[in-house]
Amino acid sequence: MTPWMRKVHKWIGLLIGLQLVLWMCSGFVMGLLDSEKVRGRELRAPPASKRAWPQDAMPVSQVLAASPDAAQHVTTGWLLDQPVYRLTGEKVVRLFDARSGERIELDAATARRLAVASYRGPGVPGEAQLLEQSLETRAHEGKAWRVPFSDAGDTTVYLSQQGDVLEHRNNTWRLFDLFWMLHIMDYTGRKDFNNPLVISAAVGGFWLALSGIWLLFTSFSLAEFIPKRWRGTRSLLVHAPDGSRLRSMRAHSGDTVFVALAQQGLQLPSNCGGGQTCGLCEVRVRGGAPAPTSADRAVLSPSRIEAGCRLACNLKLDRNLDIEVRGGAELGTEHEAQVESVRALSPFLREIVLLPKDKPGPEYRPGSFIQLHVPPYKMVKHQIEAPDEHHSAWSGLHLPAQWSSGALLRRSYSLAAPVQQTDGRVTLLVRFCHGKQGGKNHPPGKGSAYAYGLKAGDRVQYSGPFGDFAIQQGEREKVFIGGGAGMAPLRAMVRDLLESGASEPIHFWYGARTASDAPYVDEMEGLAAKFDNFSWQLVLSDERGGQGPSGMVHEAVREGLLQRLPDLKACDFYLCGPPPMLKATRAMLEKLGVADERVAFDDFKI
Ligand SMILES: Cc1cc2nc3c(=O)[nH]c(=O)nc-3n(C[C@H](O)[C@H](O)[C@H](O)COP(=O)(O)OP(=O)(O)OC[C@H]3O[C@@H](n4cnc5c(N)ncnc54)[C@H](O)[C@@H]3O)c2cc1C
Ligand code: FES
Repeated sequence: MTPWMRKVHKWIGLLIGLQLVLWMCSGFVMGLLDSEKVRGRELRAPPASKRAWPQDAMPVSQVLAASPDAAQHVTTGWLLDQPVYRLTGEKVVRLFDARSGERIELDAATARRLAVASYRGPGVPGEAQLLEQSLETRAHEGKAWRVPFSDAGDTTVYLSQQGDVLEHRNNTWRLFDLFWMLHIMDYTGRKDFNNPLVISAAVGGFWLALSGIWLLFTSFSLAEFIPKRWRGTRSLLVHAPDGSRLRSMRAHSGDTVFVALAQQGLQLPSNCGGGQTCGLCEVRVRGGAPAPTSADRAVLSPSRIEAGCRLACNLKLDRNLDIEVRGGAELGTEHEAQVESVRALSPFLREIVLLPKDKPGPEYRPGSFIQLHVPPYKMVKHQIEAPDEHHSAWSGLHLPAQWSSGALLRRSYSLAAPVQQTDGRVTLLVRFCHGKQGGKNHPPGKGSAYAYGLKAGDRVQYSGPFGDFAIQQGEREKVFIGGGAGMAPLRAMVRDLLESGASEPIHFWYGARTASDAPYVDEMEGLAAKFDNFSWQLVLSDERGGQGPSGMVHEAVREGLLQRLPDLKACDFYLCGPPPMLKATRAMLEKLGVADERVAFDDFKI
């Protein structure tokens, strides 16, 4: 439940946070505005002094008798210099001249004169207009006369149909009113403080507070509040997958297995530094694993969880544990290598060949990956050199002038060629994560930017190899489907199979946006010409008119290959590429009835 709760908390927090900013800003602006101007008092003439009621006024009884409707109450008053009776009925208010008893209908000229009498500014009055109710007169019912004045504040005087001055509105009031609208969240009427939006914001804020308290409790464990020396220790037995014992250690209760192993020099692979998102730190708990947490379920497949696999960075040592780690002895070793060559194969794919100090052994299987150590660094944009033919792609990026990485990081890169075929060299194919996504420009990826700054002769550190993405035993027909940097492990596997004499049919379908984005095309065409059992197909999604199919690679391979293979269920599938491609291809294979165990894939999450 926690990841779900975290997600909802984040998005509701964003919405309520934005509204909080609006509340604060609008309150601040309203507080700054001059209240006299907001109320329209600055240019409003003081009320006329009381005048004696004229002797020659008609008795009110006479006016009442002449009125067409019954009046509920009568008041006296002045319309400029004219004494008037105001008769208020159930629905209407009528004005009568107190001297003549004649009914008065306010016309535009009188409204204009009344507006001028209520105004003491420098503006010249415009024409009076009788308008339906507007936002500026929303506090009053019925139609109103509107008289604009040509002053700096665009004062507008509103009068009722009986000649009462209703409002003096000006630009200061209009600004106030805009912020008032944002403040009370009544975006239509601007007067209802109890509207559904305010109520939703209040409920959202309350939920945010409660979920925040929940998350606070789930983010900390009791052990974190107790100093290590008071916590006691637990034993941790570490085995390799073949059952051999690697290490026996004691670690502080409450520490995660990831931290405990690192303290003893066994560094599990990780791309997220213990952040419970990359899934690389998976270990298998022997003899009864603790209940999986939501973080385990979010990253590991149900079959792995069933087999007792858990994320080491989320596995607390609150009892003695016996675990199995992939990578075995490699976890404790660090290797040094020299960069032998760097080759830009496409605008954002680079081949980096490393010459390790110690010759790699058979553990460097095609499909495995190393963890490149990324030391703290500072980098300026110009340190990344792009060949002339890629300049236009690079100039379309909005890279910052400089960027840095503050702590040692580890990033996984798959072997892009079998080490036996490269005389012990470790070949990597690195995609530059430039950070340009959906119209936004994020900082470039720290690991890939470091790799793009490497030059021949530089020294690097790495650990590994790791991983269980590998060629399955047996001679079943094989279908490789990939895209982007997914070319790396698939190329290594295909080359290994072909050069080691595999005779089963092998198909490789690779998707790229354009021909210039696809690496190793000549090499793949050469292999297809050399080996009868190998076929290669490039699928371009953004470029049409070429020889091959176009569109999405998973659709193209379904139409162009899978539909004509006699027994799909007897094939092995190997997938690697961008997450959407991987997801779509796995879904397509499931739909075609291919069993999960026939599909091996590596998710780079890029
Ligand atoms: C088993 C495995 C094998 C792999 N093999 C390969 C391989 O062969 N070749 C390869 O190229 N990669 C491979 N990867 C991926 C590789 O390990 C890295 O994940 C990848 O290079 C990105 O790392 P980074 O440090 O460059 O990016 P990070 O620094 O981890 O950033 C990730 C992304 O987030 C973006 N970002 C940065 N800041 C922000 C922000 N504030 N908001 C939003 N986004 C932001 C970055 O631009 C980048 O796109 C593999 C991964 C795994 C798990
Ligand atoms: S280190 Fe990444 S999930 Fe554990």
